[in-house]
Amino acid sequence: MFKSYHKLLVATTLFAMFGTSVACAADKTVSRTYANGKKVIDGGMTYPIHNGKTASYYVNEKAHGGVVKFGRKPTLDEIKAWDIDVMPDGTGLPEGEGSVEEGDEIYEAKCASCHFDFGSGGSGYPALQQGNAYEGQKTLTNQRINPDDDGPLRNFGSYWPRASTLWWYIQTGMPHPAPMSLSDDETYALVAYTLSINEIQIDGEELDDEYVLNKEKFLKIVMPNKDGFEPKIDGPHGLENTRKYYDNPKNFGGNKERCMKNCFDGDPLVARIQGVGISEFSPPISIKREKPMPKEGSKAEHPGEKAYTASCAVCHTTDAMGAPAVGDKQAWEAVLKKGLDKVKHNAIYGINGMPPKGGTTLSDDKVSEIVDYMIEASK
Ligand code: HEC
Ligand code: HEC
Repeated sequence: MFKSYHKLLVATTLFAMFGTSVACAADKTVSRTYANGKKVIDGGMTYPIHNGKTASYYVNEKAHGGVVKFGRKPTLDEIKAWDIDVMPDGTGLPEGEGSVEEGDEIYEAKCASCHFDFGSGGSGYPALQQGNAYEGQKTLTNQRINPDDDGPLRNFGSYWPRASTLWWYIQTGMPHPAPMSLSDDETYALVAYTLSINEIQIDGEELDDEYVLNKEKFLKIVMPNKDGFEPKIDGPHGLENTRKYYDNPKNFGGNKERCMKNCFDGDPLVARIQGVGISEFSPPISIKREKPMPKEGSKAEHPGEKAYTASCAVCHTTDAMGAPAVGDKQAWEAVLKKGLDKVKHNAIYGINGMPPKGGTTLSDDKVSEIVDYMIEASK
């Protein structure tokens, strides 16, 4: 078992190093072919599953005779019904059009009750704009490199890197009580209105009331925070971008070098969760955990307990050594079928793996007392 596991690891490592298929011919049960052409990223594992596909967890094909016996393949129509988002490249975006003015009217009727006039937000509903989206932008990168600066404004205009999200968010999620109720044209109009209140331009043009948005113009939108998210994980260079980004500690944690030891003069500052004091818990939170005090007359104060802990617990805490474990009711019921005298006799004179008096020089009476405790603690 251990051996096969080791071989599997070797195969994975080789694969990670050379990106080629590796099969362990020596041991049939672990020969795995990583033939999907995908690279393993930083220790990630890919396991083959049925039909040459791979998964990030191991599927025991033998357990199901090679067939997973639940679910069924979704039909193309079912997939189509779920596949309703709009991608940045325009995939999923329907033809249609709507003007800022039309959007304003729909907004008044269906959105303003929650998002307020001009998308200003309020009563806990998100603001759809907080002024001109181009001015004073603080991207996430800014926030990391200059942590003293204010963070980015997190609204559509200033924060979202793609407008495509707005289109399908509005059509599939809004108005909140009636999702999927807006037509394509209504959605274009509401998107046009949302862009205009953020003062976002398309192709250098401001969106006044008469502006009519359609698919072609929509695909020209460049969001102010398009490159605000770091590292850039999209696209063919995603992996290199990510590595490069994290290789430079200046990209996070301020302008300091990364520090692994002796990082502080004096004690480090420890930030505590605000608002809840340690004493507000019952029992209070502390690193030191005391054993609860036994109630008067309870079995925890048994006179045999201390000696048990000192001399017998090493074998009797679990049944790993073949000893009846203290606390295991069934095991002790079985032992006691011999009768208490016999059991105490065995404890004193030994039986099989049980050495006489557990290998101690305790008196017969003391051993007897410990046995009473062990029985008491196993009821
Ligand atoms: C009944 C209240 C309500 C109405 C009416 C409503 N919304 Fe919303 N809207 C919300 C809530 C709540 C959220 C936040 C949802 C969440 O974060 O899960 C939200 C989020 C949004 C967002 C995302 C904001 C962000 O920055 O995350 C947009 C865009 C939006 N709504 C547009 C609209 C439009 C357009 C309409 C009218 C067609 C509308 N909403 C009507 C309650 C409402
Ligand atoms: C080195 C390990 C070890 C230590 C130390 C040890 N025991 Fe045991 N004990 C065993 C094992 C193993 C058995 C099971 C023996 C069997 O029935 O095969 C056992 C069984 C027992 C039994 C049940 C006897 C029966 O008749 O089935 C009692 C009672 C007992 N031990 C008491 C004690 C007491 C009291 C101490 C401490 C003074 C102690 N043991 C210390 C290993 C140990």
